[in-house]
Amino acid sequence: MSAPAPATATAVVADVPTQALTLDIDAIRAQIPALHQQVNGRPLVYLDNGATSLKPQVVIDALLDYYTGCCANVHRGVHSLSQRATTLLEQARVTVQQHIGAPELAECIFVRGVTEGINLIAQTWGARHIGAGDEVLISAMEHHSNIVPWQVLCDRVGATLKVIPFDESGTLDMAAFTALLSPKTKLVSVGHVSNALGTVHPVERIIAAAHAVGAKVLIDGAQAIPHGRVDVSELGCDFYVFSGHKVYAPTGIGVLWGRRELLEAGGHWHGGGDMIRRVTFEETTYAELPGLLEAGTPHIAGIIGLGAALTWFNELGLDAVAAHEQDLLAYGTQLLSEIDGVRMIGTAANKAGVLGFVLDDHIGAHPSDVGMLLDQQGIAVRTGHHCAEPVMDQFGVPGTVRASLAVYNNRADLDALAAGVRKAIGMLS
Ligand code: ALA
Repeated sequence: MSAPAPATATAVVADVPTQALTLDIDAIRAQIPALHQQVNGRPLVYLDNGATSLKPQVVIDALLDYYTGCCANVHRGVHSLSQRATTLLEQARVTVQQHIGAPELAECIFVRGVTEGINLIAQTWGARHIGAGDEVLISAMEHHSNIVPWQVLCDRVGATLKVIPFDESGTLDMAAFTALLSPKTKLVSVGHVSNALGTVHPVERIIAAAHAVGAKVLIDGAQAIPHGRVDVSELGCDFYVFSGHKVYAPTGIGVLWGRRELLEAGGHWHGGGDMIRRVTFEETTYAELPGLLEAGTPHIAGIIGLGAALTWFNELGLDAVAAHEQDLLAYGTQLLSEIDGVRMIGTAANKAGVLGFVLDDHIGAHPSDVGMLLDQQGIAVRTGHHCAEPVMDQFGVPGTVRASLAVYNNRADLDALAAGVRKAIGMLS
């Protein structure tokens, strides 16, 4: 067995030895209050982390401390509470910068999440730099939030949306990708890890090939950031977005990172307070980054909570997190694959965090039937199309059952899932 992979920009893709269980998972579980409850009379088994993760006590405490201690607005007050709140918010920005290896602090923009981050780029940089006859390239595996903003933009400016296909395992067709690239390609926007299938895309290769034709690259890191180390400087992408709530932070807060020159070239987005330098009725002049793209009172508590979550996550050891989750992925894949009547959906060689499956047609069960039967056993999974309808269309299924992993999961959770699926099949057959 080889040693754990060295820290790289894509540790989520690392070939991690399956026995590298260096984390004290019981101690981690003890820090997650929501794990310790009964659901439908059974101990909760939480396997819906792709949708949102449960929060450590330190994150909950950071929210409470803000609301009980220094609940004031930021960047506006000379009074002490406001200054304390501003300091905490800006400390969180430093934590974000360090976490993703961003060259500049001012390039880290707080947004509501991936959806807002992608829409921001589409409506700023995209609207100014993508025009009639240009092409935007996405993959067929994208979440709707990385499809619709580009459809809207392309419709508006007369550009064309092109789609990279994938094979039956859920692996991108890189030859087709290369063939789709041309000088007309202005932007390639792809997920780092597929939310529906768990495929880890070869983003370094995608970035290098896109840059070779002069295209910019946006990476949707929603499903990558929670599973290991990501460094945007090492990746070399142009924009990277992620949502806080999938990486143990509160809902409603996320990060858009972009190269300074591109963010500036996109110009302002929402107008309002904090994004201006001077306003008169004749003319408004605008603030520098990051304020330029952060109009209005931000989600102050959420930002502070995001800082606390990333600090907590880092202290676990990101390579150990990736190794632990790879072990769970391999273990869960084996357990589910052994069950008669289960068909795994998403079997790429390089995966992170997701176990998707359907039941064989002869059982005649919709994924939501399985989800409800699992819920009766206290097991939380997501069912349906996972906001990736084209993926389901390609597999010819209405949806899948998706178990998705977090660092606090253990093999017992996957034993419970497998037993729950066997029981569900027994009830549905
Ligand atoms: N995008 C989230 C998911 O995959 C909500 O479940």
